Amino acid sequence: MTKAKVVLAYSGGLDTSVAIPWLAETKGAEVVAVTVDVGQPVDLEQVRQKALASGATNAYVADAKAEFAEEFIGPALRANALYEGVYPLSTALARPLIARHLVRIARKEGAPFVAHGCTGKGNDQVRFDLSTAGLAPELEVIAPAREWAMTREEEIGYAAAHGVAVDATKSSPYSTDENLWGRSVECGILEDPAVEPPEEVYGWTRSPAEAPDAPEYVTITFERGTPVALGGRRTPLHGLIAELNRTAGAHGVGRIDHLESRVVGIKSREVYECPAALVLLAAHQALEALVLPRDLLDFKHGVEQRYAQLIYDGLWFTPLREALDAFVTATQERVLGEVAVKLFKGSARVSGRRSPNALYQAALATYSTGDQYRRQMAEGFIYVWGLPARTWAAIGARAAPPRIASAAQRP
Ligand code: ARG
Repeated sequence: MTKAKVVLAYSGGLDTSVAIPWLAETKGAEVVAVTVDVGQPVDLEQVRQKALASGATNAYVADAKAEFAEEFIGPALRANALYEGVYPLSTALARPLIARHLVRIARKEGAPFVAHGCTGKGNDQVRFDLSTAGLAPELEVIAPAREWAMTREEEIGYAAAHGVAVDATKSSPYSTDENLWGRSVECGILEDPAVEPPEEVYGWTRSPAEAPDAPEYVTITFERGTPVALGGRRTPLHGLIAELNRTAGAHGVGRIDHLESRVVGIKSREVYECPAALVLLAAHQALEALVLPRDLLDFKHGVEQRYAQLIYDGLWFTPLREALDAFVTATQERVLGEVAVKLFKGSARVSGRRSPNALYQAALATYSTGDQYRRQMAEGFIYVWGLPARTWAAIGARAAPPRIASAAQRP
């Protein structure tokens, strides 16, 4: 009898490493490991070797940095996507991409199953399961860590008993996830939301107190709402993001402390480091403010919130996301220009912006000579604009019931 093939999303960490012998033992499966390079700073050849050493029959590494930047981060940036107004969705955006690679390899390998190492408490299980459903409804998803009831200590014991190497030196009280768009940290002392995150949780950002005393300016060039150059040098998006993570992180930019509402109903304390994301989102919004009209900005704002939420909720491969993408893309036609951002001791502030498509017109805005604004039109405009409010107030004054005298004034 041939064994059922399972294509497993493999990170090299404890959960996914234990999942290999666990799938073989409990499901009688043959495991194919897939590691997707989304810009996490790890040696992926080493990860691949570890998958094989842990019992995988085959192990793939897919370089998806450019794909991640162009097809996932780009759309999210153009939509100014921030979950609950603060989280740039770094982990959430990578999940549908990883699922797409799992599906691709499953089809290539003729595997009826895909698997991931997510637990039953988080958002990531939702994202992997729904992305797989949206791309390949015929595939079945197995989530070992959702099924097994092992504590961390038991997992380590299971690993030892099954010849899976456990790197005790890497053991940390924190659980982290990293990709181009950011780094997330959970667990340990962070589970007390009243306590300030200790300095040791940060890996990408310098403490603002220790950041350079001189500010640094970065200039980002956008075309159709997408960053195309840094400091005037044209750079592919994934390279631009990686470089900006380093530059902004060195100035202490990118730290986020979020009390987050998970899809599964749990509130959790999440710490993120997203230096490039915060700089690019600020720059993109500043450019939009210069080139887009007020009603479009206002309407787009509502779309942005919905877009951020659907990314968070694991609904990337849905018709709603595609339709909202089409709207956002249409809004970005004129979002062209340059934005300067000042990095200084933990802050990233837009210091200047310019665009050939600017709606800002000095001749209209100026209080100095050269003013072309027809100010005499303002009075008539205000009369018409304020007519409903004026009418309401006038009728209210007439229709108001006589004041009832207060008790003190009563005879
Ligand atoms: N709370 C964040 C999110 O839902 C981060 C999740 C981190 N995931 C992880 N496997 N460590 O997007």
